[in-house]
Amino acid sequence: MNKILVWDWPVRIGHWLLVGGFILAWLTGDGESWRLVHVLAGGSVVGVASFRLFWGFWGSRYARFADFVRGPQAARRYLLSLLKLQPEHHVGHNPAGGWAIVLLLGLGIATGLAGWCIYNDIGSDVLEELHEGLATAMLGVVFVHIAGVVSGSVLHGENLVRAMVDGKKAGLPQNAIRSAHPLAALVLLLWVASAAWWLAR
Ligand code: HEM
Repeated sequence: MNKILVWDWPVRIGHWLLVGGFILAWLTGDGESWRLVHVLAGGSVVGVASFRLFWGFWGSRYARFADFVRGPQAARRYLLSLLKLQPEHHVGHNPAGGWAIVLLLGLGIATGLAGWCIYNDIGSDVLEELHEGLATAMLGVVFVHIAGVVSGSVLHGENLVRAMVDGKKAGLPQNAIRSAHPLAALVLLLWVASAAWWLAR
């Protein structure tokens, strides 16, 4: 197997923006003094996640939901293969990771929108509880996600974190994506900046 291009630029840049936005939002969640930074960080998470929904239908091969969102049976089979230490190899996301991704994107949008309502004095204390509960649930999924990435990397003998940086994984040359879509990445950056600004205004 060769090293082939699997993750396009929007997937990679979107991922690391999501990581940065999520961490910053967590660090600035308490108190008034960092409120604007918190709202901008949360707005970036909403921006990336909403772009990713679009990219999940119109993006490159492995970015598409159709490539990695599978039924519970497939996720179960993949997890069992991990336990047997004979992991199924997937060029794109594995079926268990696919569920974590859908959850992270959904929770990112829901948490951000609940936060936006609070910021604009819409809703009541219940919404604050909801915002905190969703953020905590997301943190839980992030831990599971990171555990999955680490165990997948070890069991596959493939550095998945580096793959999220250079976009390359083991695969057959004919399975590589043809373009890294740099222009779409530019659109992503503009979209995220606009979403963060609009939500924080
Ligand atoms: C430093 C901690 C993190 C590391 C090392 C990491 C690493 C990775 C890796 C290696 C993948 C690709 C998995 C695969 O090969 O199938 C991935 C995918 C993903 N991760 Fe993370 N991750 C981290 C934190 C996060 C956080 C905090 C979030 C969300 C807030 C997140 C959301 C996602 C999403 C949505 C994907 C799918 C990417 C896409 O298809 O667009 N990750 N992550």
